[in-house]
Amino acid sequence: MRSSRFVVPVVVLLVTACGARSAGQQVKADEGELVGVTMPTTTSQRWLSDGENIKKDMESRGHRVDLQYAQNDIPTQVRQIKDQIAKGAKLLIIASVDGSALTEPLQMAADARIPVIAYDRLLRGSANVDYYATFENFRVGVYQAESLLTGLGLRNADGSPSAAPGPFNVELFAGSADDNNSVFFFNGAMSVLKPYLEDGKLKVLSGQTQFEAVTTLRWDGETARKRLEEIIGTSYRTKKINGVLSPYDGISLGILTALKNAGYGPQFPVVTGQDAELPSVKSIIADEQYSTIYKDTRELATATAQMAEAVLKERTPPQINNLNDYNNGVKVVPAFLLNPVSVDKSNYHKVLVESGYYTDDQLR
Ligand code: GAL
Repeated sequence: MRSSRFVVPVVVLLVTACGARSAGQQVKADEGELVGVTMPTTTSQRWLSDGENIKKDMESRGHRVDLQYAQNDIPTQVRQIKDQIAKGAKLLIIASVDGSALTEPLQMAADARIPVIAYDRLLRGSANVDYYATFENFRVGVYQAESLLTGLGLRNADGSPSAAPGPFNVELFAGSADDNNSVFFFNGAMSVLKPYLEDGKLKVLSGQTQFEAVTTLRWDGETARKRLEEIIGTSYRTKKINGVLSPYDGISLGILTALKNAGYGPQFPVVTGQDAELPSVKSIIADEQYSTIYKDTRELATATAQMAEAVLKERTPPQINNLNDYNNGVKVVPAFLLNPVSVDKSNYHKVLVESGYYTDDQLR
């Protein structure tokens, strides 16, 4: 039998386990919860930062975090979420690989009364999603298209129409079809491009203008490179591409590789992007990629952690600012939307360096 003198107060155990926590930050046994965080992949810097930022924030609130990356593999993500439920997670934060493929673990979470926050990508086809934290995704697409027009000279930087006559040849890329965001980005972009396509100022010589025809599975740059090389081989033997709508920096780099392989450069067609990833920001500085969309993932992580804290305390998160747009096929998920910022060579320093997102040294 264990003698009572060996029973160490729980608070001391927790402080020991957390190492550096000072006396003033002691966590009471009932405050620290296990939070399961699953991210899609480590192949993109943004998801690494998203995961680390959420983890740090939740830990600074006294919680424990199980952070997992699924390497873009659906069964791996399903298993990771089930493991987190089995380990006793009290809340799940999920950035999905495939937004519609998690209904089973989400049902298990609901059965165990574990709330779920969808992180950046909406979880679809399930009633068991409590909240959603993301950016104004339609606006991302609008900004991408506007920057394509600005780069081509069809629009002035202040938004006014310019005198450039066109027509310009462009090709369109969308993100992964299993990511709800892809539809929002594409629809946002097409809301801007449609009139230009209709009046012939923009031409898509491949004829591929429907969402289904232009998606890029798992947002893969290589897939995009191959698709553009095929298009160049068939539709641009005697013509030049002037611009490419790209929904994401990893895709933009694949597009630029295809363009280089086809002999483009040193002046490149206007290529858009998203995420302000380091290689793409360097590419913008080097006059290769034209633009990107900056989404401050530090803010998204902080907002999500605040949301998580409220949910753990069984309160309604105060951040929610959209109750209409994110219908996941079963319910409208209450969402918090942050603002994206369009970035090109003219403002990257102000937006990315002066905000502390990157240092000058990182961009050299
Ligand atoms: C989307 C996300 C984008 C980009 C893309 C590829 O869901 O909103 O910012 O990261 O995935 O990872």
